Amino acid sequence: MQNLKNKTVVITGGASGIGFATAKELTEKKAKVIITGRQKDSVEKASKEIGAIGIVSDQSDLIQIESLVKNIAAQFEKIDALFINAGIAAFAPVSAISEEHYDTIMDINFKGALFTLQKFMPLLNDGASVIFLSSINAHNAMENTAVYAASKAALNALAKVAAIELAPRGIRVNTVSPGPVNTPLWGKVGMNEEQLSQTAALIQSKVPLKKFGSSEEIAKTVVFLTSDDSSYTTGAEFIVDGGFNLNTLVG
Ligand SMILES: NC(=O)c1ccc[n+]([C@@H]2O[C@H](COP(=O)([O-])OP(=O)(O)OC[C@H]3O[C@@H](n4cnc5c(N)ncnc54)[C@H](OP(=O)(O)O)[C@@H]3O)[C@@H](O)[C@H]2O)c1
Repeated sequence: MQNLKNKTVVITGGASGIGFATAKELTEKKAKVIITGRQKDSVEKASKEIGAIGIVSDQSDLIQIESLVKNIAAQFEKIDALFINAGIAAFAPVSAISEEHYDTIMDINFKGALFTLQKFMPLLNDGASVIFLSSINAHNAMENTAVYAASKAALNALAKVAAIELAPRGIRVNTVSPGPVNTPLWGKVGMNEEQLSQTAALIQSKVPLKKFGSSEEIAKTVVFLTSDDSSYTTGAEFIVDGGFNLNTLVG
């Protein structure tokens, strides 16, 4: 994949997990990469490690999104790809969903993603690529995930509409929906060690490939969508889940 050289790519939530693995592969392919995150220390450490530019910015805060756009516009004028990856997961049964649970997830995963795309639109080069990080939870019922699943389903709907609206500029908009991926996200969902290992074992047993994916395996698909190799692909959703969504009836 030679055509990533000197492309300017912005990745939200790029200091860990899938965002970081994508940023690393893109810098190795000589793209200019800007990563964001909420925590100064981790953004600085991650960007230094891979030779990216790190900017502290909270995806749920419209004022911070606007200043991020201004900051990047001052350095690069235009960008070639935008990977809207930042997201959180938290679990609660419908009976116990609080307004705070709802707002926290929706503000980052959906509202923040929507306004990140909107505010970056003037900076996107014609022919640019936009990638949203969704989840197979957008399609599948898993207990305690109502708000998380809704935030990702909303993202999928947004991506399809944006693909139509941005097509006249040659801008492609696609979605990547991972299954279970071994990232720091799982340590932040509020489960103790025992609950986490029980949940992981249960999930793993139901994945046809019998394992969690790695961040690097998801990054490969994002990098493909970032590159010109995917030049005829827009409005698509790439499910990268070891076959988890197949819901096999026997076995
Ligand atoms: N891991 C999985 O099994 C899985 C499966 C399907 C989909 N996903 C999705 O994949 C995406 C990446 O998650 P991951 O698994 O790689 O988890 P991760 O390692 O926790 O990475 C998420 C990154 O997003 C950042 N972030 C969170 N809230 C943010 C905000 N408001 N503004 C800016 N950055 C923010 C986090 O940094 P700070 O908290 O320091 O800001 C972190 O660096 C998420 O959208 C997640 O929903 C994950």
